[in-house]
Amino acid sequence: MKSINFMTMKPCCRVLISRKISPFLGIPLPKSHQFFAPNSSAFQFNHSLHTAPKTRIVNLQSILKENQQPFFAPSSTRGQSRIFSSSCLCGKLSHRGLYVIARVASVRNYSTSVETRVNDKNFERIYVQGGLNVKPLVVEKIDLDENIVSNEEPNVKVGEDSLDDKSSDGLSSVEAVKNVGREQSEVDKEAWRLLENAVVSYCGSPVGTLAANDPNDKLPLNYDQVFIRDFVPSALAFLLKGDSEIVRNFLLHTLQLQSWEKTVDCYSPGQGLMPASFKVRTVPLDENKFEEVLDPDFGESAIGRVAPVDSGLWWIILLRAYGKITGDYALQERVDVQTGIKLILNLCLSDGFDMFPSLLVTDGSCMIDRRMGIHGHPLEIQALFYSALRCSREMLRVDDGSKNLIRAINNRLSALSFHIREYYWVDMKKINEIYRYKTEEYSTEATNKFNIYPEQIPHWLMDWIPEKGGYLIGNLQPAHMDFRFFTLGNLWSIVSSLGTPKQNEAILNLIEAKWDDLVGLMPLKICYPALESEEWRIITGSDPKNTPWSYHNGGSWPTLLWQFTLACMKMGRMDLAKKAVDLAETRLPADRWPEYYDTRYGKFVGKQARLYQTWTIAGYLTSKMLLENPEMASLLFWEEDYDLLEICVCALSKSGRKKCSRGAAKSQILV
Ligand code: GLC
Repeated sequence: MKSINFMTMKPCCRVLISRKISPFLGIPLPKSHQFFAPNSSAFQFNHSLHTAPKTRIVNLQSILKENQQPFFAPSSTRGQSRIFSSSCLCGKLSHRGLYVIARVASVRNYSTSVETRVNDKNFERIYVQGGLNVKPLVVEKIDLDENIVSNEEPNVKVGEDSLDDKSSDGLSSVEAVKNVGREQSEVDKEAWRLLENAVVSYCGSPVGTLAANDPNDKLPLNYDQVFIRDFVPSALAFLLKGDSEIVRNFLLHTLQLQSWEKTVDCYSPGQGLMPASFKVRTVPLDENKFEEVLDPDFGESAIGRVAPVDSGLWWIILLRAYGKITGDYALQERVDVQTGIKLILNLCLSDGFDMFPSLLVTDGSCMIDRRMGIHGHPLEIQALFYSALRCSREMLRVDDGSKNLIRAINNRLSALSFHIREYYWVDMKKINEIYRYKTEEYSTEATNKFNIYPEQIPHWLMDWIPEKGGYLIGNLQPAHMDFRFFTLGNLWSIVSSLGTPKQNEAILNLIEAKWDDLVGLMPLKICYPALESEEWRIITGSDPKNTPWSYHNGGSWPTLLWQFTLACMKMGRMDLAKKAVDLAETRLPADRWPEYYDTRYGKFVGKQARLYQTWTIAGYLTSKMLLENPEMASLLFWEEDYDLLEICVCALSKSGRKKCSRGAAKSQILV
């Protein structure tokens, strides 16, 4: 078994000295290291921190090791304490003994043995070595097991993508976008000022943006953290403006958090998991010294303990966007970054009990991070998953170690798009078909494969569905179709080409036809319609924050504007995007950039909406800049991949036992 330890540890700033400089553990701090900010080029591997609130840091005992890597070792390994560690157990600095590394035992032991919680689907086995805080990632090649991943070479060439080549030259220059917004309106100026104010620094370098930055908010909960999903529009705004440092830092720091040891009530979630959010905390080291640490939340503190499934997918999507817009492809080629991508994919592609190619998740695992009846296979996750797979296929370095993974990606892309296009799609014709469904069909030939009872078609839908247009339903499970319209999933299906070209067009037609319901006075409804009365009581568990037409339950979220803009631009419907941006531009500054709006048409600022919500601000700015720079927008969406349609991973069709249904479906899709 060959192990390659490939992570290079480079120094980074992590000690913040206040007032006077004093020696630390008797070792004087040389001037040059008293405080420094990592410049981004030297910033190869800034090992981030995982710390607990002060009260949870217990039983520290200082030990200075022979190799002069000073650290604290725990005197007890009991309890729920989390690792509290430094980012700089890194070569140069640590061997000079300049920094003290504090550690608290986690419930798991400090074994240096191989992590086994990995997916062994014939991909590389990736694990974290070292047990303690510095975790060089190790890739280990696993022998091929030809039975697991099909031998069949798909017809898709690795990394091939119809649109990507378009952008591999010319447009990558940051200079090209520097002119964006030269003639800024007053609203844009205010938005930029607010966005800049929301920037969070870590050791002197920008690493993200606060979720909300309202100085009058006395109870920010976790809105004072950097959320992975919330940062995406901020990142795009910065990238489009030509400021890439914050995005690069964000990508690298969150990568570090990914490999961190984490426990939720004695259980360790999957290794590739990205946190929902993180916070920069300042921790006193002794009288005059402070340390800045990154404290991630993997759901263990989040309300409802929801799993941030979308975080890793967004991270991959942002990584690709960073490369496309800046032309800095070296970042995605780095070994640690490649490993980060693989860890996320290993989590997503691992086998489970599931029967479908869609990802099975718990309720609240995405933007809607509360109980809203979206457990199972929610569209939003599927669309992000599909995009992340397409991004990864472009970014993964092709070698012996990755070829099985890439084959699995292609197979999954093909199966997933078929599944969603075929079974999630509804329009008038399809609803009429469902209306006439027979049930209890036991056979592989069943028309009503999921045993949907026609009585499930909600009354609102019969009247609501327009003659022209259609959409992808919110979720599909055995005997269950969730007919609600979820905006982000539908928009992102357009952007990633998860839908067919015709479906994508039809989704925008539906939004146009149902403008009052889906856009109304503020773009855009997070979902439509709201759950009311008994449904609200049973499905949300009587959630007072998600009352009908509020927050996640039919509220209007201005951040969705940038995704709408991108989708409209892809489909050549700039008119729709401009109409929506105009609405937002007049209302948002007057209302102090709220997080969401309430009521059926988005008339009121949301009951509990944060003000100066960063992704509202960034979503608006990104939309404006995309509209002004269509060539930049084209770097962020995907066209149909016709090669994918050729891959049939359906073994049944090959065995001849059953005619593969996708041949017929494909011809239907392409007309
Ligand atoms: C709410 C939203 C979530 C967002 C977070 C921070 O929890 O539901 O999507 O990431 O606030 O803005």
